[in-house]
Amino acid sequence: MGRGRNALYLASQGWHVTGYDLSPAALAAANSAASQSGLKLTTHLARHETFDFGTAQWDLIVCLYNYMDPDDPKLPARLHRALRPNGIIVFQTAWNRELTRPQLTRLWRNFQILRYDDLAPGAVMDEWEPSLTYPTLKLVLQKPATP
Ligand SMILES: C[S@@+](CC[C@H](N)C(=O)[O-])C[C@H]1O[C@@H](n2cnc3c(N)ncnc32)[C@H](O)[C@@H]1O
Repeated sequence: MGRGRNALYLASQGWHVTGYDLSPAALAAANSAASQSGLKLTTHLARHETFDFGTAQWDLIVCLYNYMDPDDPKLPARLHRALRPNGIIVFQTAWNRELTRPQLTRLWRNFQILRYDDLAPGAVMDEWEPSLTYPTLKLVLQKPATP
């Protein structure tokens, strides 16, 4: 969640937001911004590699520029289990991998792909400096209501 850029926005829209980061400083900044704005966040000091997403626990999982690899072969099953039926993943990152759309689609085949954009370096300039060097991948995935 970093310093809470997206978490704070979602909380302001009425979501009950849980976020984690490996950086205590980022969590402190997010929690401080939340209390200044009268918003509530639940935060954890944790890493992607070991964070327990649980089972059927989330309506939305937001992975923005967070160094998760969309081509990690273990990630789809992990996030599928964690979402409630109809739950959504929003994934956006600058990445240097070479997977084609069919390969990524196959990897995330237990989801419905609502959006897939693979944008040229420099096409997204407002978010993160590596977006200038690497393609930006945008994925919106939905866990089907029934398996
Ligand atoms: C570029 S910031 C993006 C933060 C936020 N998602 C946003 O879009 O504003 C990347 C964040 O990922 C965190 N991060 C990097 N590797 C991580 C890991 N393995 N586990 C947990 N957090 C990680 C960093 O500490 C940093 O706060």
